[in-house]
Amino acid sequence: MKIAMMALLFVASGASAHVAALGEFQTKPILADLKDLRALNIPVMAKDEGVEVGYAVVTPLMLQRIQERAHTVGKCGGFEDLSGDVMLQSHGFDHMLTELAKIKEQNDLYERAPFKALALEKNAGIVAALSEVSENNLRSYVQWLSSFPNRNNKDPQPNRHVTEMKMRLEAMLGNATIPYEISEITHSSTKQNTLKVRLPGSARPNEIIVLGGHLDSINQSWGGTKAAPGADDNASGSANLIEALRILMEKPQPQRSIEFFWYAGEESGLLGSAEIAKQYKAENKDVVAVLQLDMTLLPGSGELVVGSMTDFTSSWMRDYLKALNETYLNAKIVDDKCGYGCSDHASWNRQGYPALMPFEATFKASNKNIHTANDVITPESNFKHSAVFTKIAVVLGMDLANSSARQPY
Ligand code: BES
Ligand code: ZN
Repeated sequence: MKIAMMALLFVASGASAHVAALGEFQTKPILADLKDLRALNIPVMAKDEGVEVGYAVVTPLMLQRIQERAHTVGKCGGFEDLSGDVMLQSHGFDHMLTELAKIKEQNDLYERAPFKALALEKNAGIVAALSEVSENNLRSYVQWLSSFPNRNNKDPQPNRHVTEMKMRLEAMLGNATIPYEISEITHSSTKQNTLKVRLPGSARPNEIIVLGGHLDSINQSWGGTKAAPGADDNASGSANLIEALRILMEKPQPQRSIEFFWYAGEESGLLGSAEIAKQYKAENKDVVAVLQLDMTLLPGSGELVVGSMTDFTSSWMRDYLKALNETYLNAKIVDDKCGYGCSDHASWNRQGYPALMPFEATFKASNKNIHTANDVITPESNFKHSAVFTKIAVVLGMDLANSSARQPY
């Protein structure tokens, strides 16, 4: 079926010389920036002009061209691998697009809403909790995580750091004053596990606030050492979450449940988060908000300047971020875009859950050393800047998790 489709596409795109070899190609379905697909003359099988994404089935060569182009325009991979996507296999591209358009419509509805009643009431307990955020702790967590040779999901020992982190979190949680559950989640798309800590809610435990980031790392450079320290991408976001947990576990039990995730296999196509978000949707779980922390260490647009990604996120959550910033942080929030599903928030957004992705800078000004052996702590690493992201998580954990606010549509 796929091959037949490809043969058709190849004839249509005039690359008939390759048709003979089609059977040998390992094609894969992907989601990519519509502009990139068009610029590269890659046949788009379905598209949504509104969200500017297109679906294509590509050969390794096409994939390489997308990656090369992505690099020249400052993106990383520039595409999302949809192989193994159950919804795609069972319902096809058009259905996926309809779903995507529905989610966008939901967001647009909110944007057209006549008023936004988002102002946070300043709470002394939250102010005190924010002062507990320790830059030294963040530094030592990032130092520790980036000292593994890599945290890649394809490493022969893909769970070394996961096992060690679980032990460390268990030790830390020994001081918790509220109930918690810690678990490792196994996946079918990767041998790497996701680490989860759940703080069950006291009043409305079925309402869930997800605080997550990917724990894995990757080295995509040619030659040289294959080390993947991933200090910024994403020991930093992972560290922010550890620090937020350390603070929240000694606060009064939240009314809603808070679930921390350190995802597996993000760098290989959002693998861990995609499985989890799909399962949550299948079980009809009520995820009220999803925070994604991925790269928080390099203040490329200036100290305390935070990029807020507007694609694959919820405009309600973005307004919430601006409101919490006014009340508690006094950082500068700048709207920007990845242009593709660049991190695990896209997995949740794809299932219709409201997501937020505050980022270290604007996309263009982000760290150029990611996915290389040079993604280490440097003199430019800024833990005061990074601390802002722990604070965002703490406010979600103390304000949103104790309120009944939710996305209005
Ligand atoms: N942290 C990056 C995403 C990122 C990079 C956001 C630069 C903003 C600026 C993430 O870990 C990543 O590398 N994502 C992949 C996509 C994924 C679907 C494989 C990418 O960007 O190529
Ligand atoms: Zn990455």
